[in-house]
This record gives sequence, C-alpha cells and structure tokens, in this order.
Amino acid sequence: MKITVIGSGYVGLVTGTCLAEYGNDVVCLDVDANKIQILQEGGVPIFEPGLEEMIKRNVSAGRLRFTTDIKESVDHGTIQFIAVGTPPDEDGSADLKYVVAAARSIGRYMNGYKVIVDKSTVPVGTGDKVRAAIIEELAQRGEQTSFAVVSNPEFLKEGAAIEDFMRPDRIVIGTDDDTAKDLMGSLYAPFVRNHDRILFMDVRSAEMTKYAANAMLATRISFMNELANLSEVMGADIELVRKGIGSDPRIGYHFLYPGVGYGGSCFPKDVQALQRTAEEHGISLKVLDAVEKANHAQKSVLVDKIVKRFGNDLKGKHFALWGLAFKPNTDDMRDAPSRVIIEYLLNHGATVAAHDPVSIHEAQRVMPGWQGLSYEDSPMAVLPGADALVIVTEWKVFRSPDFTEVKAQLKNALVFDGRNLFDPKRMQKEGFEYYPIGRQQVTN
Ligand code: NAD
Ligand code: UDX
Repeated sequence: MKITVIGSGYVGLVTGTCLAEYGNDVVCLDVDANKIQILQEGGVPIFEPGLEEMIKRNVSAGRLRFTTDIKESVDHGTIQFIAVGTPPDEDGSADLKYVVAAARSIGRYMNGYKVIVDKSTVPVGTGDKVRAAIIEELAQRGEQTSFAVVSNPEFLKEGAAIEDFMRPDRIVIGTDDDTAKDLMGSLYAPFVRNHDRILFMDVRSAEMTKYAANAMLATRISFMNELANLSEVMGADIELVRKGIGSDPRIGYHFLYPGVGYGGSCFPKDVQALQRTAEEHGISLKVLDAVEKANHAQKSVLVDKIVKRFGNDLKGKHFALWGLAFKPNTDDMRDAPSRVIIEYLLNHGATVAAHDPVSIHEAQRVMPGWQGLSYEDSPMAVLPGADALVIVTEWKVFRSPDFTEVKAQLKNALVFDGRNLFDPKRMQKEGFEYYPIGRQQVTN
C-alpha cells in the first residue's frame, strides 16, 4: 500500500519505518528541513533502539523515503497518517494547530479518494475539525473529492517503540467509512496474529480511548508513588508491597514502580488535556486533578530528602547525577524529572555533574548555559569529589556498579536513589548512607 506519514518525529518515524518493514511504500514528510536532511543522509534524529537499522534496511529496499515536499507526499499515499505534535496550549489543552495545518495541506493537494488517519493524540471531536479543514480547502479549489477521516491513536512507548509497534497489544481504529475500515484492517493485518486485537469503533471512542489509557496509567503510577511515600514513613517496604499487590491478577505487576514522578512527552500533557476537555464540558475529573498534584510533588521527592539531609542552603555542595532522560532507552528530555531536580540544586547554590548514556546532547539543548551544570561521558566520571550521588533514571548500566570504586570516588558515601536500583541491606553492607523511595533508608 502507498502510505504517507506527515510528521517524522518519534511516532511518525517509527510508524513509517514499521509500515515499510512489511512491504508498504512509505513517504515520511516533515516541515523541519534539518530533520529531513539528517534522514536523507542516512542519520536518525532521535535515539530509539533498533530504529536506525530498520530505517537503513527499508531505505535500501526502496520502500522508505523522506521529504519536505508537501505536494509530492500528498500525491503519494492513499493513506495519509497525521503524526504531528499536539503540545499543550497555555491553559493545558491540546494545541491542534499542527494537526489542522497538516489536514489543510492534504485538502489543498489531494486528488482522488484518501484515508486521513489521525495518529497524533487528539481530543475527542478533532476528527470533525480535520474533516472541516479538508472540506474548506477542497471547496476553495472547487473540488469535491471524497475522503474518510480515521482515528488510529498510537500506544507505543519510547525506548520500546519498535517492539510495541510491531507487536501491539491492540490496534484501535475509529471510523464509520467501510472502505477506510477495509484498508486499515489490511494494513495492520501483518502486525497481529489474532485479528481480535484490531478494535474497530467510532472516531470519538477511539480518540477518547487514547486519553483514557494514559490517564489510567498516570493514575496508577501516582497512586503507587503516594503508597511509597506512606510506606517509608510507616516502616513498610514498597518493594515488598509492590510484589504483594502485583500478584493479584486484577492489579498485575506492570507499571507499578514508584519513582520520581512520571515525565515524558505524553502523560503530563495528556492528563492536562483531558482535564481541560472535561472542564469545557462542565465536568470535573477529581481523581485526575489529584494525580497531577501528586506527580508535581513527587518530582521533588529526592530534593526533599537532600534538603532534609544537608539543609536548604546547598552552597558549596556538589552532586553527581545519574540519568537525565525521563526514562531509560530514550534521549527524550520532555518533562524529565531530572530538569526539576537539577534546577532546584543549582538555584540553591549547588553544582551538578551529570551523566546519561544517550541524552546529554538533548540536555544541553533544553538546559542551555545552566551555570554550575556539567556533563561527563561515563557514570564514574561524575563521581569525584561529589557530596552525594543522585540517581534519577534507571538505565541498566547504573544497576551493578563497582561499589568500592563508587565509594572511593565520592566525597561522602551517600546515595539518593529515585528508582530503587539497590537493595538497602546491600548498601548498608557496602557502607553507604542510602535514601531510596518508599523503603527504609540506611543512615549507618
Ligand atoms: P515529535 O515532536 O517528536 O514529532 C512531531 C513532528 O511533526 C516534528 O518533527 C515536526 O516538525 C513535525 N510537524 C509539525 N507540523 C507539521 C506539518 N504541518 N507537516 C509536517 N510535519 C510537521 O512528536 P511525537 O512525540 O512523535 O508525537 C506526535 C504525536 O503522537 C503527539 O500527538 C503525541 O502526543 C502522540 N504520541 C506520542 C508518543 C511518544 O511516545 N512520543 C506515543 C504515542 C502518541
Ligand atoms: C507513554 C505510554 O505508556 C504509551 O502507551 C503512550 O503511547 C505514550 O506515553 P512513554 O511516555 O514513552 O509512554 O513512557 P512510559 O514507559 O509509559 O513511562 C512514562 C513515565 O512513567 C516515565 O516517566 C516513567 O519513568 C514513569 N513510570 C513508568 C514510573 O514511574 N513507574 C512505572 O512503573 C512505569
């Protein structure tokens, strides 16, 4: 099938590449000429495991190419995916200007039947806005070409995007157009062994499903974080509690890890956007209001521990920091908890030496010229002379360090661990003062 993907970011690039992998003829468009140039020259503008090799393979096979030419890309695909950003507006609602601009470009150039697929995360009712924008553009040209609008939200997780796309739990397709339904069903058939995993529904329910999923997961994490904070005070161990509740199949083990609050490009903005949608319709989502508040507080949980230990004046203190990305296996720094933690430490007079396996370049871009913040290219290189080690992201390379060496490098054998990487008993044995999340701290 001939496919166009409008927007070649995390979602668009993965979507286009994975669709090419199963034999489709894919054109990926972006308005960012720099991004397209990198892709045309064989580079990949983002870090996503497995993506580079898959892009190379499909480009060589002639099934995948990249362009900034809107007309060419609209001409190309019978199916036109819209995978542009939907960042938060000033009031937290989803800003649809990129989605509407993409829809307008399609309307401006399309000749013949097209299926226009919203893959971006968009509020309920956006399908109607996309349809209206296309009709307006067609009318300006005196055209009456027929088309279908489909909602096909994306559920991939960064860091596991290829795996998630190639082997999805489910594929949600919202449409009331039979031709579009058949085309979308055939397109996704190779991705599911069991066709029950393709869930057809109306457009509005599909749009709502995406927000409902992210809001549910964000709620789960925030509640777990609150249970961790309580466990810590009550002398319980959240790691044991996690296993104890996860074994109930109604709860399950996944997505039950307490930490420094959820970040990334989706949960924070999608929780807010759903709240705004509800408010616009006179409904208050009280649980979600609490989730947002709890997550905001959780981003400071490590800082609170640091202040309790060192006092509020951190002048002259130096911290080693492991992990900048909002989670492992990505270079994405959008809403990363590390940014809140670093900002606090610097504002209170401390200096920070940070390491992350892949996101130092992104960190430099989003925190340009931050005085007192330096970067090193290995975990051990940030340690010398530090008053404490602060762990923010659970990269695998941080999980089994040479504790003797860590201790020898640090000024104080002191670790604030926002991801519970180590067993407190082991840390005690190794001679560390250790502050995990929701577990008993080791003060020696
Ligand atoms: P991104 O910022 O990485 O990529 C969006 C791209 O769209 C950018 O490269 C931008 O230049 C391009 N663009 C903007 N307007 C354009 C236009 N008119 N024509 C062509 N290109 C245009 O964003 P992302 O993380 O890929 O997210 C895209 C959408 O998918 C969002 O709605 C997001 O909520 C949703 N989503 C993201 C993830 C994720 O893990 N990142 C997962 C599921 C859903
Ligand atoms: C999320 C959704 O999972 C995905 O389905 C959607 O398509 C996009 O948004 P992503 O943001 O890439 O994916 O990462 P995810 O693995 O969901 O983690 C989100 C945040 O929650 C991260 O900050 C992570 O550290 C945090 N998290 C996750 C926890 O704190 N504990 C957990 O148990 C799981």
